[in-house]
Amino acid sequence: MRLHVADHPLITHKLTVLRDKSTPSPVFRQLTEELVTLLAYEATRNVQVESVEIETPVTATTGVRISEPRPLVVPILRAGLGMLEGMVKLLPTAEVGFLGMLRNEETLEPATYAERLPDDLSDRQCFVLDPMLATGGSLGAAVEFLFARGAQDVTAICLLGAPEGVASMKRQVGDRDVTLVLGALDERLTDKGYIFPGLGDAGDRLYGTV
Ligand code: URA
Repeated sequence: MRLHVADHPLITHKLTVLRDKSTPSPVFRQLTEELVTLLAYEATRNVQVESVEIETPVTATTGVRISEPRPLVVPILRAGLGMLEGMVKLLPTAEVGFLGMLRNEETLEPATYAERLPDDLSDRQCFVLDPMLATGGSLGAAVEFLFARGAQDVTAICLLGAPEGVASMKRQVGDRDVTLVLGALDERLTDKGYIFPGLGDAGDRLYGTV
């Protein structure tokens, strides 16, 4: 697994405002979108392109365009939805699938409760959106789900990660082709499973408590 932790003052600035508990939901949503667009720039560094012949007003030349089939963006419900606009702003031709993950209250294992994805992902570059990499349970299960559908190239984008979550992802994905892009790597998890210092519950801060 490749890990990329963002190192850019604009990202750190926007994350600082997100972390601030006095930041209201509308600003939180707007900043999340902006942050994801910045992280998407990094996360799409290896997006597959093919060469294409075009004519400029001056001459014929060769450029590139994003390959078919189009990349697939997969927000994990519910908080990953808050990252979708920022991602498709940079990849407007991407297809969008959805994956809902819940913790099974009996086994405590993450389980899929909703999915809308192509059946065969073997030739798709997949970009998974999940704002908080805490224990790594749901993101790991989501990535596993995509691999079970044949995916071979998965990039996960998270606003914040905990070292425990990164370690768990490394264990779960082994030597498969997974890239993890984080806005920041925080100190640790609290005993209640929150990222520390973190930003609280991302879903609640995006959408309010339901
Ligand atoms: N999920 C969140 O929304 N926040 C955390 O700190 C950890 C998991």
